[in-house]
Amino acid sequence: MKTQVGIIGAGPAGLFLALLLQRLGIESVVLEAHTRNYVEERVRAGVLEYGTVELMHELGVGERLRRQGLEHGGIELRFGGAGHRIDFRELTGGKCVTIYAQHEVIKDLIAARLAANRPILFAAENVSVHGLDGERPTIQFQMNGAPEKLECDFVAGCDGFHGVCRPSIPANALTIYDREYPFGWLGILAQAPPSSHELIYAYHERGFALLSMRSPEISRLYLQCEPDEHIAGWPDERIWEELHKRLAADGWKLTEGAIMQKGVTGMRSFVTEPMQFGKLFLAGDAAHIVPPTGAKGLNLAVADVRVLSRALGEFYASGKTGLLARYSDICLRRVWKVQRFSWWMTSLLHRFPDGNPFDRRRQLAELDYVTSSRAAAQTLAENYVGLPME
Ligand code: FAD
Ligand code: PHB
Repeated sequence: MKTQVGIIGAGPAGLFLALLLQRLGIESVVLEAHTRNYVEERVRAGVLEYGTVELMHELGVGERLRRQGLEHGGIELRFGGAGHRIDFRELTGGKCVTIYAQHEVIKDLIAARLAANRPILFAAENVSVHGLDGERPTIQFQMNGAPEKLECDFVAGCDGFHGVCRPSIPANALTIYDREYPFGWLGILAQAPPSSHELIYAYHERGFALLSMRSPEISRLYLQCEPDEHIAGWPDERIWEELHKRLAADGWKLTEGAIMQKGVTGMRSFVTEPMQFGKLFLAGDAAHIVPPTGAKGLNLAVADVRVLSRALGEFYASGKTGLLARYSDICLRRVWKVQRFSWWMTSLLHRFPDGNPFDRRRQLAELDYVTSSRAAAQTLAENYVGLPME
């Protein structure tokens, strides 16, 4: 098999890239390790930046998003038992975010790709990349046990944090920046109407809590927990009890419902520099991870592949390699700003095990400042709705 761009991974990075390239008339093949059903049901992020939503519409995949997405013009920061709203529309000149589950985005992107008769090879096994620093890299893999080879001009490594692309780059060609946080998030999906119209980020002595949602019938809630927390120690009643305590506010009540799913996620900040090696370009979680407090992971993956598609577009239109050579530099400027924001939101809102009473007073003072100074609130708002694309 031959193609122009071999894309490894059918997550947000790989699928957005495939559609962006399709629009430019550039051929690609997407290889995915899991089945279609698996990637379409995997519950992950839920907040789409303003620019991500615009891109879905531009690509003609925004029809369900328009009908089912929930536009949010702000968030609430809750501390000391009271809520404080950050008004995105007012602070950013009318921008908002949209709540629409990542796996719904995935369904829309896969449907559009397959409707255009372009290939996604699901359940590809033993994927490996070769000849990255040569003229024509290849991707080797197996389909139903039979060996296959895909020759390409370029490889896009969109295979997430645990993929094969980043480890295929010689270690001495990369610098890794890494920080693990001393806590995780216990997340649940509950059959309960959201108890608030907007997301609530709660700072509490007992630890952080977040109220989010997926639809008018389904709540998504998170609790700060130990990084290696055993979910078995969290029967449903304990989860609700803890959520009630951490989200408590005067005159407000949390609605409970049947818990449909629960899980624990670790939290880290991670950056690979550069994000390219020879003919391989890393995008999304394959190149960087952010803690989820800023709701940025999916959006940052989309920002990377916008840059990559522009660079590949320039190459195929004119033979110029200027943008391809600068791919990593262009992406990393945004990546580090998003890292900073995600780290800041995380540091502001979580209880650190080594934090002392001074640290907690300082966090409360910062929350007070962010919710009472227009300048500080605006900084949060412009980052949350998404910085402009370079
Ligand atoms: P991924 O979505 O990871 O996609 C990579 C794809 O590559 C996957 O489909 C994978 O199966 C495939 N793949 C892997 N290895 C191979 C291989 N060898 N060959 C072929 N295919 C391969 N972000 C938030 O903002 N909020 C959240 O609440 C949130 N929750 C999360 C919960 C979990 C459990 C995880 C893991 C992430 C969460 N994120 C969250 C982050 C967000 O979902 C990611 O940043 C986003 O999915 C990145 O997209 P991606 O396309 O780069 O990678
Ligand atoms: C979610 O709805 O899953 C969600 C929302 C906001 C975050 C993280 C996750 O910061």
